[in-house]
Amino acid sequence: ERLALWGGRFGSGPAAALAALSKSTHFDWRLASYDIRGSKAHANVLHAAGLLDDAALATMQDALDRLAEDVASGAFVAAEDDEDVHTALERGLIERAGADVGGRLRAGRSRNDQIATLIRLFVRDQARVIGAAVLDLVDVLQARAVEVHGAPMPGRTHLQHAQPVLLSHHLLAHAWPLLRDVERLRDLDVRAAVSPYGSGALAGSSLGLDPEAVAAELGFASAVHNSIDGTAARDIAAEFSFVLAMIAIDVSRLAEEVIAWNTKEFSFITLDDAYSTGSSIMPQKKNPDIAELARGKAGRVIGDHTGLLATLKALPLAYNRDLQEDKEPVFDQVDSLMLVLPAFTGMVATMVFHTDRMAELAPQGFSLATDIAEHLVRRGVPFREAHEISGACVRVAEAQDKELADLTDAEFAEISEHLDPTVREVLTVAGSIASRDAKGGTAPVRVAEQEAEAAAASARL
Ligand code: ARG
Repeated sequence: ERLALWGGRFGSGPAAALAALSKSTHFDWRLASYDIRGSKAHANVLHAAGLLDDAALATMQDALDRLAEDVASGAFVAAEDDEDVHTALERGLIERAGADVGGRLRAGRSRNDQIATLIRLFVRDQARVIGAAVLDLVDVLQARAVEVHGAPMPGRTHLQHAQPVLLSHHLLAHAWPLLRDVERLRDLDVRAAVSPYGSGALAGSSLGLDPEAVAAELGFASAVHNSIDGTAARDIAAEFSFVLAMIAIDVSRLAEEVIAWNTKEFSFITLDDAYSTGSSIMPQKKNPDIAELARGKAGRVIGDHTGLLATLKALPLAYNRDLQEDKEPVFDQVDSLMLVLPAFTGMVATMVFHTDRMAELAPQGFSLATDIAEHLVRRGVPFREAHEISGACVRVAEAQDKELADLTDAEFAEISEHLDPTVREVLTVAGSIASRDAKGGTAPVRVAEQEAEAAAASARL
């Protein structure tokens, strides 16, 4: 007996090479429980349309429930010659309900609308799972920020010392993009919550089936406006895939800093033994492998996204078999992130910050030069001139290999008449940090607000 769903007009079975190429059960099996949920909803609309009598519906639903249990327990699995998850599950249904009842389910639907629906169900569920894992990382960043509140560090631009900032401020600057990523996962659900079921192969159903009823039963907000679009579109998967790539990128940016901070030269952090690795040859080594793998997997996750976009580019309407390639990249992204995020969160939760070292470096590299200029502006000096004067201070200090605070009163006075000893008030890290007290700034009072805001944003999501 032929196992393919499309055997009627063929004189021979598929060549082995075709079957091998075509087969997708090794990855789309992951969607089996969604496919059965779709089948149960579809059985109900067939019944409502008078195409299944009460007894057949009961037999069908019972068989589908048993099939779902067998799939969950592993008692039912795809066979070698099942082409895809849909094929295998139809076989499983017929084994349980008999060919007369089981053979009725496929009326008015196509694998094209089935698979388009399943990928959306998957996206909707996984958006919640990934979102929760990202929020765990956000919560750890927020808690660590509160813990080190008040500790300064060198803030950098171009990787050069720029201005002193609070370590909490910096940690929260990694939390906010991740919060936006979770927001993106929530937003995209508005578009993902539209069901393609009932679109059929592309043109819709002629059997009086109600797509809105299926949509409601599957937890969607509505059915698609257009059945051609319903079967052909994968922008929902692509949007989800973009957000996953963005999450990987946002984590990778922090990973890069952790790797730098963990070097002898920075000595900003020590990683916990449980979240670092050793070297097989160098006994002294303690490596930041979690951060490196997070950074490395970001490349792979971006590749998954660009691969999916390339698959979609220039595909004519409606369904094309190319669309079978939509699943593996997205699955790989989900799996990669679900490996990275828990490990990364544990690493951030347990790393020790060397705040004394950060504080020591905070004023170095002339990072208080802007403070001199702004001090002069407050005393009525035009900023253009203040910038020049402050630059001259840097030049003089640099020539003597000392920091700005080490300039003598006489040296200041020689540089500019405006530079009396009151300038020393701003030449401290604490003074500089406290002065940046506008909303969003690094002043301790403002960062305390941001700590509360980040906690509230996370709790809302
Ligand atoms: N396995 C296919 C996919 O993942 C669905 C089957 C559609 N096949 C077809 N010949 N129309 O997209």
